[in-house]
Amino acid sequence: MRRLLALGLAAAALTAGAAEAPPLPYETKAKHLGVVNCASSLCHGSIGEWKGSNVLQNEYVTWSRVDKHALRAGQVLRNERSRRIAANLGLKQPAHEAKICVDCHGHNPPAEQRGERFKASDGIGCEACHGPAENWIRSHVAPGATHADNVKNGLYPTDDPVALARLCLSCHFGNKDKFVTHRIMGAGHPRISFELDTFTQTQPPHFVVDEDWQKRKGRWDGVRVWAIGQALAAREQLDVVLDPKRGRDGLFPELVVFDCHACHHPMSDTRWKPRVGTRPGTIRFNDSNLLMLRQIVRRTFPAESGVFDDLVAQLHRAVAGEGGDAMEAAKRLRQGLDAVVRKLRDRAFDDADLRAILAGLVDDGIAGGYGDYAGAEQAAMAMASVLDFLARRGALADVRGANAALDRLFETVRDDEKYRAERFQAALASLRTFVAR
Ligand code: HEC
Ligand code: HEC
Ligand code: HEC
Ligand code: HEC
Repeated sequence: MRRLLALGLAAAALTAGAAEAPPLPYETKAKHLGVVNCASSLCHGSIGEWKGSNVLQNEYVTWSRVDKHALRAGQVLRNERSRRIAANLGLKQPAHEAKICVDCHGHNPPAEQRGERFKASDGIGCEACHGPAENWIRSHVAPGATHADNVKNGLYPTDDPVALARLCLSCHFGNKDKFVTHRIMGAGHPRISFELDTFTQTQPPHFVVDEDWQKRKGRWDGVRVWAIGQALAAREQLDVVLDPKRGRDGLFPELVVFDCHACHHPMSDTRWKPRVGTRPGTIRFNDSNLLMLRQIVRRTFPAESGVFDDLVAQLHRAVAGEGGDAMEAAKRLRQGLDAVVRKLRDRAFDDADLRAILAGLVDDGIAGGYGDYAGAEQAAMAMASVLDFLARRGALADVRGANAALDRLFETVRDDEKYRAERFQAALASLRTFVAR
Protein backbone atom coordinates (compact mmCIF):
# COMPACT_ATOMS: atom_id res chain seq x y z
CA MET A 1 0.00 0.00 0.00
CA ARG A 2 2.70 2.43 1.01
CA ARG A 3 4.71 1.62 -2.06
CA LEU A 4 1.70 2.24 -4.24
CA LEU A 5 1.08 5.59 -2.64
CA ALA A 6 4.71 6.54 -3.01
CA LEU A 7 4.56 5.61 -6.68
CA GLY A 8 1.42 7.68 -7.05
CA LEU A 9 3.30 10.66 -5.70
CA ALA A 10 6.12 10.04 -8.15
CA ALA A 11 3.85 9.64 -11.18
CA ALA A 12 1.95 12.81 -10.37
CA ALA A 13 5.27 14.59 -10.26
CA LEU A 14 5.98 13.92 -13.89
CA THR A 15 2.99 15.93 -15.02
CA ALA A 16 3.58 18.76 -12.57
CA GLY A 17 6.75 20.34 -13.95
CA ALA A 18 6.03 22.34 -17.07
CA ALA A 19 3.16 24.63 -16.15
CA GLU A 20 4.75 25.84 -12.94
CA ALA A 21 7.88 27.26 -14.48
CA PRO A 22 7.67 30.59 -16.27
CA PRO A 23 11.24 31.77 -16.88
CA LEU A 24 12.64 33.88 -14.06
CA PRO A 25 13.15 37.58 -14.86
CA TYR A 26 16.88 37.08 -15.41
CA GLU A 27 16.28 34.11 -17.70
CA THR A 28 14.28 35.96 -20.37
CA LYS A 29 15.74 37.68 -23.39
CA ALA A 30 13.83 40.98 -23.31
CA LYS A 31 15.42 44.32 -22.39
CA HIS A 32 15.52 45.68 -18.87
CA LEU A 33 14.65 49.36 -19.13
CA GLY A 34 15.61 50.57 -15.66
CA VAL A 35 13.82 51.81 -12.55
CA VAL A 36 13.61 55.35 -13.88
CA ASN A 37 10.95 54.24 -16.34
CA CYS A 38 8.66 53.20 -13.50
CA ALA A 39 9.48 56.00 -11.13
CA SER A 40 7.71 59.06 -12.53
CA SER A 41 5.24 60.69 -10.17
CA LEU A 42 2.56 59.95 -12.73
CA CYS A 43 3.43 56.26 -12.70
CA HIS A 44 4.67 54.34 -9.65
CA GLY A 45 6.51 57.24 -8.03
CA SER A 46 3.60 59.11 -6.49
CA ILE A 47 4.24 60.44 -2.99
CA GLY A 48 0.88 59.28 -1.71
CA GLU A 49 -1.51 56.51 -2.69
CA TRP A 50 -3.87 57.24 -5.54
CA LYS A 51 -7.48 56.93 -4.62
CA GLY A 52 -8.81 56.18 -8.08
CA SER A 53 -6.23 53.55 -9.07
CA ASN A 54 -6.14 49.79 -8.70
CA VAL A 55 -2.56 49.87 -7.50
CA LEU A 56 -1.01 52.16 -4.91
CA GLN A 57 1.16 54.13 -7.40
CA ASN A 58 3.70 54.88 -4.68
CA GLU A 59 5.59 51.58 -5.10
CA TYR A 60 8.77 53.35 -6.13
CA VAL A 61 8.72 55.52 -3.02
CA THR A 62 8.31 52.49 -0.76
CA TRP A 63 11.01 50.57 -2.60
CA SER A 64 13.53 53.40 -2.71
CA ARG A 65 13.04 54.50 0.89
CA VAL A 66 12.53 51.35 2.94
CA ASP A 67 13.18 48.27 0.82
CA LYS A 68 16.57 46.66 1.38
CA HIS A 69 16.66 45.55 -2.23
CA ALA A 70 17.08 49.18 -3.18
CA LEU A 71 18.87 50.58 -0.19
CA ARG A 72 21.49 48.06 0.64
CA ALA A 73 22.01 45.75 -2.26
CA GLY A 74 24.45 48.08 -3.98
CA GLN A 75 26.26 49.29 -0.88
CA VAL A 76 26.79 45.95 0.78
CA LEU A 77 29.10 44.74 -1.95
CA ARG A 78 31.36 47.73 -1.34
CA ASN A 79 31.66 47.26 2.40
CA GLU A 80 34.53 45.77 4.39
CA ARG A 81 32.88 42.40 4.80
CA SER A 82 32.41 42.02 1.06
CA ARG A 83 35.99 43.07 0.42
CA ARG A 84 37.11 40.36 2.79
CA ILE A 85 34.84 37.73 1.20
CA ALA A 86 36.11 38.64 -2.28
CA ALA A 87 39.74 38.55 -1.12
CA ASN A 88 39.29 35.23 0.70
CA LEU A 89 37.74 33.70 -2.41
CA GLY A 90 40.52 35.10 -4.54
CA LEU A 91 38.07 36.85 -6.89
CA LYS A 92 39.76 38.72 -9.69
CA GLN A 93 37.31 41.61 -9.46
CA PRO A 94 36.02 43.55 -6.47
CA ALA A 95 32.74 42.13 -5.12
CA HIS A 96 30.60 44.88 -6.64
CA GLU A 97 31.83 43.93 -10.09
CA ALA A 98 31.96 40.16 -9.65
CA LYS A 99 29.11 38.30 -11.35
CA ILE A 100 29.09 35.69 -8.57
CA CYS A 101 28.00 38.43 -6.13
CA VAL A 102 26.09 40.92 -8.32
CA ASP A 103 23.75 38.23 -9.69
CA CYS A 104 22.10 38.20 -6.26
CA HIS A 105 23.04 41.54 -4.73
CA GLY A 106 22.07 43.53 -7.77
CA HIS A 107 20.24 43.45 -11.03
CA ASN A 108 22.66 42.10 -13.55
CA PRO A 109 21.31 41.49 -17.05
CA PRO A 110 23.88 41.09 -19.85
CA ALA A 111 24.95 44.32 -21.56
CA GLU A 112 22.85 43.73 -24.68
CA GLN A 113 19.72 43.43 -22.56
CA ARG A 114 20.16 46.77 -20.80
CA GLY A 115 18.00 49.62 -22.02
CA GLU A 116 19.48 53.10 -22.44
CA ARG A 117 18.27 54.25 -19.06
CA PHE A 118 19.13 51.06 -17.14
CA LYS A 119 21.40 51.76 -14.18
CA ALA A 120 23.13 48.95 -12.33
CA SER A 121 23.56 51.26 -9.34
CA ASP A 122 19.80 51.19 -8.76
CA GLY A 123 20.19 47.91 -6.91
CA ILE A 124 17.60 45.15 -7.16
CA GLY A 125 15.12 47.12 -9.22
CA CYS A 126 11.51 46.63 -10.26
CA GLU A 127 12.35 44.50 -13.27
CA ALA A 128 14.51 42.10 -11.24
CA CYS A 129 11.21 40.85 -9.79
CA HIS A 130 8.57 41.96 -12.27
CA GLY A 131 10.50 40.93 -15.37
CA PRO A 132 12.13 42.98 -18.12
CA ALA A 133 9.61 45.60 -19.22
CA GLU A 134 10.51 45.98 -22.90
CA ASN A 135 7.43 44.14 -24.11
CA TRP A 136 4.92 45.22 -21.51
CA ILE A 137 5.83 48.76 -20.47
CA ARG A 138 3.43 50.31 -22.99
CA SER A 139 0.70 47.71 -23.05
CA HIS A 140 0.31 47.45 -19.28
CA VAL A 141 -1.05 51.00 -19.11
CA ALA A 142 -3.27 50.67 -22.17
CA PRO A 143 -6.97 50.95 -21.42
CA GLY A 144 -8.47 47.53 -20.73
CA ALA A 145 -5.11 45.79 -20.14
CA THR A 146 -5.61 42.77 -17.90
CA HIS A 147 -3.12 41.06 -15.63
CA ALA A 148 -3.23 37.97 -17.87
CA ASP A 149 -2.33 40.14 -20.91
CA ASN A 150 0.58 41.64 -19.02
CA VAL A 151 1.86 38.23 -18.01
CA LYS A 152 1.59 37.08 -21.62
CA ASN A 153 3.72 40.08 -22.58
CA GLY A 154 6.43 39.13 -20.13
CA LEU A 155 5.41 40.53 -16.73
CA TYR A 156 6.58 37.99 -14.19
CA PRO A 157 3.58 36.49 -12.31
CA THR A 158 4.59 37.52 -8.77
CA ASP A 159 0.99 36.94 -7.69
CA ASP A 160 1.36 33.19 -8.23
CA PRO A 161 2.80 31.65 -5.06
CA VAL A 162 4.89 29.04 -6.90
CA ALA A 163 6.38 31.61 -9.27
CA LEU A 164 6.88 33.96 -6.32
CA ALA A 165 8.68 31.35 -4.25
CA ARG A 166 10.98 30.43 -7.14
CA LEU A 167 11.81 34.09 -7.65
CA CYS A 168 12.62 34.93 -4.04
CA LEU A 169 14.47 31.66 -3.45
CA SER A 170 16.61 32.22 -6.54
CA CYS A 171 18.49 34.78 -4.42
CA HIS A 172 17.46 33.85 -0.87
CA PHE A 173 18.82 30.34 -1.19
CA GLY A 174 20.09 30.10 -4.73
CA ASN A 175 19.41 27.88 -7.72
CA LYS A 176 21.32 26.20 -10.53
CA ASP A 177 22.66 29.57 -11.76
CA LYS A 178 23.59 31.34 -8.52
CA PHE A 179 24.20 29.91 -5.14
CA VAL A 180 25.88 30.71 -1.84
CA THR A 181 28.12 27.71 -1.38
CA HIS A 182 29.78 26.77 1.89
CA ARG A 183 33.00 28.06 0.35
CA ILE A 184 31.43 31.50 0.03
CA MET A 185 30.19 31.20 3.61
CA GLY A 186 33.60 30.01 4.71
CA ALA A 187 35.00 33.18 3.15
CA GLY A 188 32.73 35.19 5.48
CA HIS A 189 29.25 35.31 3.91
CA PRO A 190 26.49 35.24 6.53
CA ARG A 191 24.16 32.30 6.93
CA ILE A 192 21.03 32.84 4.85
CA SER A 193 17.59 32.18 6.22
CA PHE A 194 14.32 32.72 4.46
CA GLU A 195 10.61 32.21 4.94
CA LEU A 196 8.42 33.40 2.11
CA ASP A 197 5.42 34.77 3.95
CA THR A 198 7.45 36.46 6.70
CA PHE A 199 9.84 38.02 4.20
CA THR A 200 6.99 39.20 1.98
CA GLN A 201 5.59 41.02 4.98
CA THR A 202 8.90 42.53 6.07
CA GLN A 203 10.14 43.57 2.62
CA PRO A 204 7.82 45.62 3.25
CA PRO A 205 5.04 45.04 0.73
CA HIS A 206 4.34 47.84 -1.76
CA PHE A 207 0.99 46.29 -2.60
CA VAL A 208 -2.28 45.76 -0.80
CA VAL A 209 -4.26 42.59 -1.27
CA ASP A 210 -7.74 44.02 -1.26
CA GLU A 211 -10.90 43.06 -3.08
CA ASP A 212 -9.75 44.66 -6.27
CA TRP A 213 -6.37 42.88 -6.16
CA GLN A 214 -8.15 39.56 -5.77
CA LYS A 215 -10.51 40.42 -8.61
CA ARG A 216 -7.56 41.10 -10.91
CA LYS A 217 -5.20 38.41 -9.69
CA GLY A 218 -7.11 35.77 -7.79
CA ARG A 219 -6.99 34.77 -4.15
CA TRP A 220 -3.96 35.51 -1.96
CA ASP A 221 -3.68 33.09 0.90
CA GLY A 222 -0.74 33.72 3.21
CA VAL A 223 -0.78 30.17 4.56
CA ARG A 224 -0.58 28.79 1.07
CA VAL A 225 2.29 31.16 0.33
CA TRP A 226 4.06 29.90 3.44
CA ALA A 227 3.36 26.26 2.57
CA ILE A 228 4.50 26.54 -1.04
CA GLY A 229 7.56 28.50 0.06
CA GLN A 230 8.52 25.60 2.34
CA ALA A 231 8.01 23.00 -0.37
CA LEU A 232 10.05 24.92 -2.92
CA ALA A 233 12.84 25.65 -0.45
CA ALA A 234 13.10 21.95 0.36
CA ARG A 235 13.10 21.17 -3.34
CA GLU A 236 15.91 23.62 -4.10
CA GLN A 237 17.93 22.05 -1.30
CA LEU A 238 17.41 18.53 -2.67
CA ASP A 239 18.31 19.80 -6.13
CA VAL A 240 21.71 20.74 -4.75
CA VAL A 241 22.16 17.24 -3.36
CA LEU A 242 21.13 15.70 -6.69
CA ASP A 243 23.23 17.99 -8.88
CA PRO A 244 26.59 16.31 -9.49
CA LYS A 245 28.20 19.72 -10.02
CA ARG A 246 26.79 21.63 -7.08
CA GLY A 247 26.33 18.71 -4.73
CA ARG A 248 29.96 17.91 -4.12
CA ASP A 249 33.13 19.74 -3.23
CA GLY A 250 36.18 17.51 -3.40
CA LEU A 251 35.84 14.59 -1.04
CA PHE A 252 32.83 16.14 0.69
CA PRO A 253 29.27 16.92 -0.21
CA GLU A 254 28.28 20.60 -0.44
CA LEU A 255 27.98 21.51 3.23
CA VAL A 256 25.29 24.17 2.86
CA VAL A 257 22.53 21.54 2.79
CA PHE A 258 23.44 20.34 6.28
CA ASP A 259 22.63 21.79 9.64
CA CYS A 260 25.26 24.52 10.13
CA HIS A 261 25.32 24.08 13.88
CA ALA A 262 25.96 20.36 13.61
CA CYS A 263 29.55 21.37 12.92
CA HIS A 264 29.71 24.92 14.18
CA HIS A 265 29.73 24.67 17.94
CA PRO A 266 32.50 24.29 20.50
CA MET A 267 33.68 20.75 21.24
CA SER A 268 33.18 21.26 24.96
CA ASP A 269 29.49 21.90 24.34
CA THR A 270 28.31 18.28 24.45
CA ARG A 271 24.62 18.35 23.69
CA TRP A 272 23.75 15.32 21.63
CA LYS A 273 20.43 13.67 22.40
CA PRO A 274 18.75 10.76 20.63
CA ARG A 275 16.49 11.94 17.83
CA VAL A 276 14.94 10.39 14.71
CA GLY A 277 17.43 9.88 11.95
CA THR A 278 20.52 10.88 13.88
CA ARG A 279 23.30 9.14 15.67
CA PRO A 280 26.08 10.67 17.71
CA GLY A 281 28.79 12.20 15.60
CA THR A 282 26.94 12.31 12.28
CA ILE A 283 26.17 15.42 10.28
CA ARG A 284 22.47 16.15 10.03
CA PHE A 285 20.73 17.17 6.86
CA ASN A 286 19.13 20.60 7.38
CA ASP A 287 15.52 19.48 7.65
CA SER A 288 13.98 22.78 8.72
CA ASN A 289 11.75 23.10 5.64
CA LEU A 290 10.86 19.42 5.72
CA LEU A 291 9.76 19.75 9.34
CA MET A 292 7.34 22.50 8.32
CA LEU A 293 6.10 20.49 5.35
CA ARG A 294 5.37 17.60 7.59
CA GLN A 295 2.72 19.69 9.36
CA ILE A 296 1.35 20.93 6.06
CA VAL A 297 1.09 17.45 4.54
CA ARG A 298 -0.40 16.03 7.72
CA ARG A 299 -3.21 18.53 7.58
CA THR A 300 -3.77 18.90 3.87
CA PHE A 301 -3.45 15.33 2.63
CA PRO A 302 -3.48 13.14 5.73
CA ALA A 303 -3.66 9.93 3.69
CA GLU A 304 -0.17 10.59 2.37
CA SER A 305 1.45 11.91 5.49
CA GLY A 306 2.78 8.48 6.46
CA VAL A 307 4.49 8.18 3.09
CA PHE A 308 5.93 11.65 3.39
CA ASP A 309 7.29 11.02 6.88
CA ASP A 310 8.82 7.78 5.61
CA LEU A 311 10.52 9.49 2.70
CA VAL A 312 12.04 12.05 5.06
CA ALA A 313 13.10 9.36 7.53
CA GLN A 314 14.70 7.37 4.70
CA LEU A 315 16.72 10.40 3.70
CA HIS A 316 17.87 10.99 7.28
CA ARG A 317 18.83 7.35 7.70
CA ALA A 318 20.73 7.27 4.42
CA VAL A 319 22.54 10.53 5.20
CA ALA A 320 23.56 9.14 8.60
CA GLY A 321 24.82 5.93 6.98
CA GLU A 322 22.16 3.73 8.53
CA GLY A 323 21.07 2.12 5.33
CA GLY A 324 19.76 3.02 1.91
CA ASP A 325 21.24 5.17 -0.79
CA ALA A 326 21.13 8.89 -0.02
CA MET A 327 20.82 9.90 -3.68
CA GLU A 328 17.91 7.55 -4.24
CA ALA A 329 16.23 8.80 -1.06
CA ALA A 330 16.73 12.40 -2.16
CA LYS A 331 15.31 11.65 -5.59
CA ARG A 332 12.18 10.00 -4.18
CA LEU A 333 11.57 12.83 -1.78
CA ARG A 334 12.17 15.37 -4.54
CA GLN A 335 9.43 13.73 -6.60
CA GLY A 336 7.11 13.63 -3.62
CA LEU A 337 7.61 17.38 -3.20
CA ASP A 338 6.51 18.06 -6.78
CA ALA A 339 3.24 16.38 -6.01
CA VAL A 340 2.89 18.38 -2.80
CA VAL A 341 3.45 21.65 -4.66
CA ARG A 342 0.90 20.76 -7.31
CA LYS A 343 -1.73 19.98 -4.71
CA LEU A 344 -1.01 23.01 -2.57
CA ARG A 345 -1.63 25.31 -5.51
CA ASP A 346 -5.37 24.75 -5.34
CA ARG A 347 -5.68 24.33 -1.61
CA ALA A 348 -7.60 26.86 0.44
CA PHE A 349 -6.88 27.01 4.16
CA ASP A 350 -9.62 27.71 6.69
CA ASP A 351 -9.43 28.59 10.39
CA ALA A 352 -9.54 24.92 11.36
CA ASP A 353 -6.55 24.20 9.09
CA LEU A 354 -4.62 27.07 10.65
CA ARG A 355 -5.31 25.89 14.17
CA ALA A 356 -4.38 22.30 13.33
CA ILE A 357 -1.12 23.33 11.66
CA LEU A 358 -0.26 25.63 14.54
CA ALA A 359 -1.08 23.00 17.15
CA GLY A 360 1.02 20.48 15.22
CA LEU A 361 3.99 22.84 15.14
CA VAL A 362 3.71 23.67 18.82
CA ASP A 363 3.21 20.06 19.91
CA ASP A 364 6.08 18.77 17.80
CA GLY A 365 8.20 21.56 19.25
CA ILE A 366 7.27 20.74 22.83
CA ALA A 367 8.05 17.11 22.11
CA GLY A 368 11.58 18.14 21.07
CA GLY A 369 11.12 18.07 17.30
CA TYR A 370 13.08 21.29 16.78
CA GLY A 371 16.33 20.40 18.47
CA ASP A 372 18.38 22.08 15.74
CA TYR A 373 18.42 25.84 15.47
CA ALA A 374 17.35 25.92 11.81
CA GLY A 375 14.16 23.98 12.53
CA ALA A 376 13.33 26.14 15.54
CA GLU A 377 13.88 29.30 13.52
CA GLN A 378 11.55 28.14 10.74
CA ALA A 379 8.99 26.94 13.28
CA ALA A 380 9.01 30.32 15.05
CA MET A 381 8.49 32.19 11.77
CA ALA A 382 5.74 29.76 10.82
CA MET A 383 3.96 30.15 14.14
CA ALA A 384 4.17 33.93 13.86
CA SER A 385 2.66 33.82 10.38
CA VAL A 386 -0.15 31.46 11.32
CA LEU A 387 -0.99 33.43 14.48
CA ASP A 388 -1.01 36.58 12.39
CA PHE A 389 -3.45 35.05 9.89
CA LEU A 390 -5.70 33.92 12.72
CA ALA A 391 -5.58 37.37 14.29
CA ARG A 392 -6.38 39.07 10.99
CA ARG A 393 -9.32 36.75 10.48
CA GLY A 394 -10.57 37.66 13.95
CA ALA A 395 -10.12 34.05 15.03
CA LEU A 396 -7.69 34.62 17.89
CA ALA A 397 -9.24 35.48 21.25
CA ASP A 398 -6.21 36.95 23.02
CA VAL A 399 -4.04 38.66 20.44
CA ARG A 400 -2.00 40.55 23.01
CA GLY A 401 -1.25 37.49 25.09
CA ALA A 402 -0.30 35.54 21.99
CA ASN A 403 2.00 38.34 20.84
CA ALA A 404 3.76 38.47 24.19
CA ALA A 405 4.24 34.68 24.15
CA LEU A 406 5.52 34.92 20.59
CA ASP A 407 8.03 37.60 21.61
CA ARG A 408 9.36 35.28 24.30
CA LEU A 409 9.66 32.52 21.73
CA PHE A 410 11.58 34.75 19.31
CA GLU A 411 13.92 35.73 22.11
CA THR A 412 15.07 32.09 22.23
CA VAL A 413 15.97 32.02 18.51
CA ARG A 414 17.47 35.47 18.23
CA ASP A 415 21.06 34.31 18.40
CA ASP A 416 21.72 31.05 16.57
CA GLU A 417 24.97 30.53 18.42
CA LYS A 418 23.26 30.62 21.80
CA TYR A 419 20.29 28.47 20.86
CA ARG A 420 19.16 26.00 23.49
CA ALA A 421 16.36 23.60 22.61
CA GLU A 422 15.16 23.48 26.24
CA ARG A 423 14.52 27.22 26.31
CA PHE A 424 12.67 27.03 23.03
CA GLN A 425 10.52 24.21 24.37
CA ALA A 426 9.71 26.11 27.55
CA ALA A 427 8.66 29.18 25.56
CA LEU A 428 6.44 26.98 23.41
CA ALA A 429 4.70 25.59 26.44
CA SER A 430 3.60 29.11 27.31
CA LEU A 431 2.48 29.77 23.72
CA ARG A 432 0.45 26.55 23.78
CA THR A 433 -2.32 28.09 25.87
CA PHE A 434 -3.11 30.64 23.15
CA VAL A 435 -3.31 28.14 20.35
CA ALA A 436 -6.61 26.61 21.34
CA ARG A 437 -8.33 29.95 21.91
C1 HEC B 1 22.38 33.19 -4.16
C2 HEC B 1 22.44 34.61 -3.90
C3 HEC B 1 23.64 35.24 -3.27
C4 HEC B 1 24.94 35.20 -3.70
C5 HEC B 1 25.50 34.39 -4.87
C6 HEC B 1 25.69 36.07 -2.82
N1 HEC B 1 24.88 36.58 -1.85
FE1 HEC B 1 25.43 37.80 -0.32
N2 HEC B 1 23.56 37.66 0.50
C7 HEC B 1 22.48 37.10 -0.15
C8 HEC B 1 21.31 37.30 0.66
C9 HEC B 1 19.90 36.83 0.33
C10 HEC B 1 21.72 37.99 1.82
C11 HEC B 1 20.88 38.47 2.97
C12 HEC B 1 20.80 37.45 4.05
C13 HEC B 1 19.71 37.84 5.03
O1 HEC B 1 19.88 38.86 5.70
O2 HEC B 1 18.71 37.13 5.10
C14 HEC B 1 23.16 38.22 1.67
C15 HEC B 1 23.96 38.88 2.60
C16 HEC B 1 25.25 39.30 2.35
C17 HEC B 1 26.03 40.14 3.20
C18 HEC B 1 25.60 40.70 4.55
C19 HEC B 1 24.72 41.88 4.28
C20 HEC B 1 24.30 42.63 5.49
O3 HEC B 1 23.24 43.27 5.37
O4 HEC B 1 24.99 42.59 6.49
C21 HEC B 1 27.23 40.38 2.57
C22 HEC B 1 28.36 41.24 3.07
C23 HEC B 1 27.20 39.66 1.32
N3 HEC B 1 26.00 39.00 1.22
C24 HEC B 1 28.22 39.67 0.39
C25 HEC B 1 28.26 38.83 -0.73
C26 HEC B 1 29.40 38.71 -1.60
C27 HEC B 1 30.68 39.49 -1.48
C28 HEC B 1 29.08 37.78 -2.55
C29 HEC B 1 29.93 37.26 -3.68
C30 HEC B 1 31.08 36.52 -3.30
C31 HEC B 1 27.72 37.32 -2.25
N4 HEC B 1 27.27 37.99 -1.16
C32 HEC B 1 27.05 36.34 -2.98
C33 HEC B 1 22.48 36.43 -1.36
C34 HEC B 1 23.61 36.12 -2.10
C1 HEC C 1 11.91 41.84 -4.50
C2 HEC C 1 10.90 41.78 -5.52
C3 HEC C 1 10.18 43.03 -5.96
C4 HEC C 1 10.73 44.23 -6.36
C5 HEC C 1 12.19 44.62 -6.39
C6 HEC C 1 9.63 45.07 -6.75
N1 HEC C 1 8.45 44.38 -6.59
FE1 HEC C 1 6.60 45.08 -7.05
N2 HEC C 1 5.75 43.40 -6.28
C7 HEC C 1 6.45 42.33 -5.78
C8 HEC C 1 5.51 41.36 -5.26
C9 HEC C 1 5.87 40.05 -4.60
C10 HEC C 1 4.21 41.89 -5.47
C11 HEC C 1 2.87 41.28 -5.03
C12 HEC C 1 2.30 40.32 -5.99
C13 HEC C 1 1.60 40.95 -7.15
O1 HEC C 1 0.76 41.85 -6.96
O2 HEC C 1 1.89 40.54 -8.31
C14 HEC C 1 4.40 43.16 -6.15
C15 HEC C 1 3.38 43.96 -6.61
C16 HEC C 1 3.56 45.12 -7.33
C17 HEC C 1 2.49 45.86 -7.97
C18 HEC C 1 1.05 45.43 -8.09
C19 HEC C 1 0.13 45.83 -7.00
C20 HEC C 1 -1.29 45.42 -7.33
O3 HEC C 1 -2.18 45.86 -6.59
O4 HEC C 1 -1.54 44.72 -8.32
C21 HEC C 1 3.06 46.97 -8.56
C22 HEC C 1 2.35 48.04 -9.32
C23 HEC C 1 4.48 46.91 -8.27
N3 HEC C 1 4.75 45.77 -7.53
C24 HEC C 1 5.38 47.84 -8.70
C25 HEC C 1 6.74 47.80 -8.42
C26 HEC C 1 7.68 48.85 -8.78
C27 HEC C 1 7.30 50.12 -9.51
C28 HEC C 1 8.89 48.45 -8.34
C29 HEC C 1 10.20 49.22 -8.40
C30 HEC C 1 10.20 50.54 -7.89
C31 HEC C 1 8.74 47.13 -7.73
N4 HEC C 1 7.42 46.77 -7.79
C32 HEC C 1 9.77 46.37 -7.20
C33 HEC C 1 7.82 42.17 -5.77
C34 HEC C 1 8.74 43.14 -6.10
C1 HEC D 1 17.99 39.42 -7.31
C2 HEC D 1 18.06 38.77 -6.03
C3 HEC D 1 16.90 38.88 -5.07
C4 HEC D 1 15.58 38.58 -5.31
C5 HEC D 1 14.92 38.11 -6.60
C6 HEC D 1 14.90 38.78 -4.04
N1 HEC D 1 15.78 39.21 -3.09
FE1 HEC D 1 15.34 39.74 -1.19
N2 HEC D 1 17.26 40.29 -0.87
C7 HEC D 1 18.29 40.07 -1.75
C8 HEC D 1 19.54 40.46 -1.14
C9 HEC D 1 20.91 40.38 -1.76
C10 HEC D 1 19.22 40.94 0.16
C11 HEC D 1 20.16 41.43 1.22
C12 HEC D 1 20.26 42.88 1.18
C13 HEC D 1 21.26 43.31 2.21
O1 HEC D 1 21.03 43.14 3.41
O2 HEC D 1 22.27 43.77 1.79
C14 HEC D 1 17.76 40.83 0.28
C15 HEC D 1 17.05 41.24 1.40
C16 HEC D 1 15.70 40.98 1.60
C17 HEC D 1 14.98 41.29 2.80
C18 HEC D 1 15.56 41.97 4.04
C19 HEC D 1 16.11 40.90 4.93
C20 HEC D 1 16.71 41.42 6.20
O3 HEC D 1 17.59 40.71 6.72
O4 HEC D 1 16.33 42.48 6.66
C21 HEC D 1 13.70 40.84 2.63
C22 HEC D 1 12.57 40.94 3.63
C23 HEC D 1 13.62 40.24 1.32
N3 HEC D 1 14.87 40.35 0.72
C24 HEC D 1 12.50 39.66 0.77
C25 HEC D 1 12.42 39.17 -0.53
C26 HEC D 1 11.23 38.63 -1.12
C27 HEC D 1 9.91 38.45 -0.41
C28 HEC D 1 11.53 38.31 -2.41
C29 HEC D 1 10.62 37.77 -3.48
C30 HEC D 1 9.47 38.60 -3.77
C31 HEC D 1 12.91 38.68 -2.63
N4 HEC D 1 13.42 39.17 -1.47
C32 HEC D 1 13.55 38.54 -3.84
C33 HEC D 1 18.20 39.57 -3.03
C34 HEC D 1 17.02 39.25 -3.67
C1 HEC E 1 30.33 19.26 7.94
C2 HEC E 1 30.57 20.34 8.84
C3 HEC E 1 30.12 21.71 8.46
C4 HEC E 1 28.86 22.14 8.17
C5 HEC E 1 27.59 21.32 8.13
C6 HEC E 1 28.94 23.55 7.97
N1 HEC E 1 30.23 23.98 8.12
FE1 HEC E 1 30.91 25.88 7.99
N2 HEC E 1 32.82 25.24 8.23
C7 HEC E 1 33.20 23.93 8.39
C8 HEC E 1 34.64 23.85 8.33
C9 HEC E 1 35.45 22.57 8.46
C10 HEC E 1 35.09 25.18 8.14
C11 HEC E 1 36.55 25.65 8.02
C12 HEC E 1 37.00 26.06 9.36
C13 HEC E 1 38.39 26.63 9.33
O1 HEC E 1 38.91 26.95 8.27
O2 HEC E 1 38.93 26.81 10.42
C14 HEC E 1 33.93 26.02 8.09
C15 HEC E 1 33.98 27.38 7.96
C16 HEC E 1 32.87 28.20 8.01
C17 HEC E 1 32.91 29.62 8.14
C18 HEC E 1 34.17 30.46 8.28
C19 HEC E 1 34.66 30.40 9.67
C20 HEC E 1 36.05 30.99 9.82
O3 HEC E 1 36.78 30.45 10.65
O4 HEC E 1 36.38 31.97 9.16
C21 HEC E 1 31.63 30.07 8.14
C22 HEC E 1 31.14 31.50 8.27
C23 HEC E 1 30.78 28.91 8.00
N3 HEC E 1 31.56 27.79 7.93
C24 HEC E 1 29.40 28.95 7.95
C25 HEC E 1 28.59 27.83 7.80
C26 HEC E 1 27.17 27.88 7.59
C27 HEC E 1 26.33 29.15 7.54
C28 HEC E 1 26.74 26.59 7.50
C29 HEC E 1 25.33 26.09 7.25
C30 HEC E 1 24.65 26.57 6.08
C31 HEC E 1 27.90 25.74 7.65
N4 HEC E 1 28.99 26.53 7.82
C32 HEC E 1 27.86 24.36 7.66
C33 HEC E 1 32.35 22.86 8.59
C34 HEC E 1 30.99 22.88 8.41
